[in-house]
Amino acid sequence: MRFKILTLFPDLINSFKNHSIIKRALDNNKIFIETIDFREYSTNKHHKVDDTPYGGGAGMVLAVQPIYDALQAQRSNDSKIILLCPTGKPFKQEEAKALSLEKELIFICGHYEGYDERIRDYVDYEYSIGDYVLTSGELSCMVMVDAIARLVDGVIEKDSYQDDSFQNGLLEYPHYTKPRIFDNKEVPEVLLNGHHAKINEFRLVESIKKTAANRPDLLNNENLSGTIKNKIKEVLSQNK
Ligand SMILES: C[S@@+](CC[C@H](N)C(=O)[O-])C[C@H]1O[C@@H](n2cnc3c(N)ncnc32)[C@H](O)[C@@H]1O
Repeated sequence: MRFKILTLFPDLINSFKNHSIIKRALDNNKIFIETIDFREYSTNKHHKVDDTPYGGGAGMVLAVQPIYDALQAQRSNDSKIILLCPTGKPFKQEEAKALSLEKELIFICGHYEGYDERIRDYVDYEYSIGDYVLTSGELSCMVMVDAIARLVDGVIEKDSYQDDSFQNGLLEYPHYTKPRIFDNKEVPEVLLNGHHAKINEFRLVESIKKTAANRPDLLNNENLSGTIKNKIKEVLSQNK
């Protein structure tokens, strides 16, 4: 999977490439991350990429021309283009799963007040990472690249993410490690006996309880499996 990132701040992205799973995936050629400073595509003699908004108002707006020309130079038949903006569709695990199957993703990181609206005609998706406003698109881009990259084949073991929160629609069950007793708090007995069916049952129930407490909206998702839906009914009726 190739990620191309159109940005005014390539250094912000470069530090992200040098650590942990992303670094290993890059070293093993499982993913490629390229940063492109779209200022270099500006035809303005001072390499300006922004201008004042038509109609007036505070702040500067990113002009179409530098981003459009950067896209023309960087895109191929394999590219899907993603515009990062608070007004986009919410980026969720479902989107990360689908995008991890693409060959090449080109991200556009905004700045200032955002983009000239006409840039939206040249993109495939518009995504927001949450209901808040960041100063620029690089952090949201790194969030998306990280979430997508870990699902790309060969980046991490499938076992490491298949029980993650949101993968089956619920929040993940609680984990415990040594010591068995800490500050008089004991690891649940069921996790110590090696009985896998009982462990799985315990984890599903805990996962449902955690989801009910923190994200009750997720329990109404039509796409949950039949087994999970039945278990939700059972757990919720017991906890009434
Ligand atoms: C200050 S923001 C622009 C906000 C814009 N004026 C608005 O109210 O929708 C500058 C850039 O940061 C990025 N950004 C900010 N918040 C974001 C979010 N929640 N999700 C994705 N990108 C975001 C986008 O690239 C955006 O163009």
